[in-house]
Amino acid sequence: MRYVSTAGKAPDTDLEAAILLGLAPDGGLYIPSRLDPMPPETFARLQGAPLRDSAFEVGRHLLRGAIADGSLRRLVAYALNFPIPVVPLGERIWVLELFHGPTLAFKDVGARFLAQLLLYYRASQLGRGGSTTVRIVVATSGDTGAAVAHAFAGLPHTQVFVLFPQGQISARQERLITTVGGNVHALAVRGTFDQCQRLVKQALADPRLRDEPGVLTGANSINVGRLIPQVFYYVHGWAQLPDVANPIVVAVPSGNFGNLSAGLMAKRLGLPVDRFIAATNANDVVPRYLQTGHFQAQPSVPTISNAMDVGDPSNMARIRHLYDDDVNQLRRDLSASAHDDNTTRECITRVYRKHGYILDPHTAVGYAALAAELERDPAAIGLLLSTAHPAKFAEIVEPLIGSEVPLPPALAAALQAEPHVTVIDPELDALRSAILSGGR
Ligand SMILES: Cc1ncc(COP(=O)(O)O)c(C=O)c1O
Repeated sequence: MRYVSTAGKAPDTDLEAAILLGLAPDGGLYIPSRLDPMPPETFARLQGAPLRDSAFEVGRHLLRGAIADGSLRRLVAYALNFPIPVVPLGERIWVLELFHGPTLAFKDVGARFLAQLLLYYRASQLGRGGSTTVRIVVATSGDTGAAVAHAFAGLPHTQVFVLFPQGQISARQERLITTVGGNVHALAVRGTFDQCQRLVKQALADPRLRDEPGVLTGANSINVGRLIPQVFYYVHGWAQLPDVANPIVVAVPSGNFGNLSAGLMAKRLGLPVDRFIAATNANDVVPRYLQTGHFQAQPSVPTISNAMDVGDPSNMARIRHLYDDDVNQLRRDLSASAHDDNTTRECITRVYRKHGYILDPHTAVGYAALAAELERDPAAIGLLLSTAHPAKFAEIVEPLIGSEVPLPPALAAALQAEPHVTVIDPELDALRSAILSGGR
């Protein structure tokens, strides 16, 4: 399988180069050059199959020969070592719980798969007489850093540097980054998230760091190595639904639109679902695009589903590429709606009262969109992607439901463990020294 840039001005490449580069040299995002449908018998066979089996089948089809079957099976088993169950919510909605990984959010799936891919390619580079150490640098405004830190924790010959703006992420998010230790170095930057991102870009382009032996790379969410495994769980989610003839609508709480890009890729592979709904908070550039046919980025506005506060979603480049930049074609597979914080709060309260089920604020935006769609279409049933565990957003959720959100063991352990963090100035020199000294 070759990977092409959405900007169309860089040569196509193989998976190894696409994941090591992250961003294509022309500034575009990599996407598989072909998405051929899988045979309907394969989908039929995957109904009720364990996650590892369906992930392997879909991965083999998508990666097409890039990784030998035995290695791919091992890679999937290491990366996806937690369940992704579907639970019913009333009569017509099923929730795909993507938050059973170590950092309680869907980002664990992409980060863990990317970590295993990098390890696989490091081994193959070694086989070719190449370098040994892999250094990963990532900037985070919260969840990504935690997922990347845990995905790479303890991996041999791998050093991870997670930059976050000091004092500007939640205490629980910070704990999930700073208590990993070992080969994971938490760097609190005296500055903003934008400065952290800039520093990462500078480090990745820095000749002195690039001259060091080994691989230096990023792990941010535009990396195609994080996108591919997200396709797996759409198939696994569909495969756990009851075998009914009703049209299936999939609701995706969206911010940077990576998750939805993976869903639309799954549909291209033949996933038997009728359509998708992009659910956004007040950051509604995509609902507007579908309404007007004109894409207009906006400055982001803060909401209680803050991981979705994106005013210029980078993965829209992938979605527009998939649909030949034809909004009418896209409208056949996708609708979109935006929901404000009041609606989000109201959904959390209503669902808890009615079903005893606790939604996190991001999933609640998806619920609002899906409930409205199912009211419009009484024949349809819905699959709702739940992107984070509500305990990560206890300060928002608990006052609404009037009780405590039980703490999952992974979070409880992180809250107990000893934090290790190095504070640095927002300067390349400071980051370079931290990287060269292995975070000490
Ligand atoms: C909890 C949660 N839900 C939803 C999203 C939105 O996902 P995407 O950026 O792929 O649209 C994010 C992204 O950071 C997230 O952390």
